[in-house]
Amino acid sequence: MNWNKQRSTQDIAKQEEIALMGKLPKHVAVIMDGNGRWAIEQGLPRIAGHKAGMDSVKDIVKACSQTGVKYLTLYAFSIENWKRPTAEVTGLMNLLEQYLRSEIDELHENNVKIHTIGKLSSLPKVVQKLLKESIERTSENSGLNLTLALSYSGRWDIVRAVQMIGLDIRRGKISPEDVTETVFASYLQTSNLPDADLMIRTSGEMRISNFLLWEVAYGEIYISNKYWPEFRRDDLYIALQNFMNRERRYGKISSQIVAENQEEKQATYLQKMMNVLKK
Ligand code: FPP
Repeated sequence: MNWNKQRSTQDIAKQEEIALMGKLPKHVAVIMDGNGRWAIEQGLPRIAGHKAGMDSVKDIVKACSQTGVKYLTLYAFSIENWKRPTAEVTGLMNLLEQYLRSEIDELHENNVKIHTIGKLSSLPKVVQKLLKESIERTSENSGLNLTLALSYSGRWDIVRAVQMIGLDIRRGKISPEDVTETVFASYLQTSNLPDADLMIRTSGEMRISNFLLWEVAYGEIYISNKYWPEFRRDDLYIALQNFMNRERRYGKISSQIVAENQEEKQATYLQKMMNVLKK
C-alpha cells in the first residue's frame, strides 16, 4: 500500500503547511514513554500498552516518511529494560517480531531503509534473523531511514567506541592525536546517522534516559504530555512546528544566526535563479 496515496485532504494540507515553514529536522529521535501507565489507567496489563504503542509506531513512521523527515530513530528497548519482569521482556520481544513480520513488506514498498543500533546479540535469535533480513532487504531504499534502538544505551555505545579506538591505537592504525570529534563519532554505532536535531519524549517526563547522549549534544528537546499510545501524527506535526519555530544558536548569539540565515536564503535564491537561467 502506497502511503502517499492514503493521505486525507486534511493531512495533505497539514503536511504542506509544515513543508512551507522551512527547515524540517533531518533527524528525529523518539523516546516512546508511557506505555505502561497508559495501560494501567485503562485497567489493562502493561503489555497491552506496548501493543497499543506499536500502532503509534506505525503512524509516526508513516507520517515522518510523508512529511519528508529523512531519519527517524526509535528507542524501542534500552539495555536497562532487560531488568524488567521476564514476562514483559518476552512480550516486548514478541511484539518486535510481530512488527517486523507484519510491516516489512509495506515498509519496503514505501522506500523505508531499516537500521539498528544496540547490542543485537542479546536479542532472541528469531528477532536477530528478522532484523538482518529487514536490513538487507531495504538496504537499497532511499526514503526514510528508520533506526530501531534495541538493547541500546548511549553510554554503552560511547564505551564501546572508546574500546575500539584503544584497539586501533594499539594496532598502530591511529594515534591519540588523531581522535577528533569527527573521528570519535565514526566509531559510534550511529556513524551513518546525522546528529539528532529533535528529540521527542512522550509522557511528560523530562529525561534523556541514556538515549543518543553524544548525538543529541545540540538537539532540541520536545516533551509531549501524552502517553506514547496516544501520540499520533497530529502530535508529531505540533512537535515539528515547535522545532521549526525555535532558533538554534549552537553557542552563537541571535544576530549571528539571523545573518547566517539571510545569507543562506540569498544563496538558495541565487542558485534557483542560476538553474532557471541554465534551462
Ligand atoms: C516505554 O514505556 C516503552 C518501552 C520500554 C518499549 C517501547 C515499545 C513499543 C512502543 C512497542 C514495540 C516497538 C516497535 C518498534 C515495534 P514504559 O513501559 O516505560 O511506560 P511507563 O513509564 O508508563 O511504565
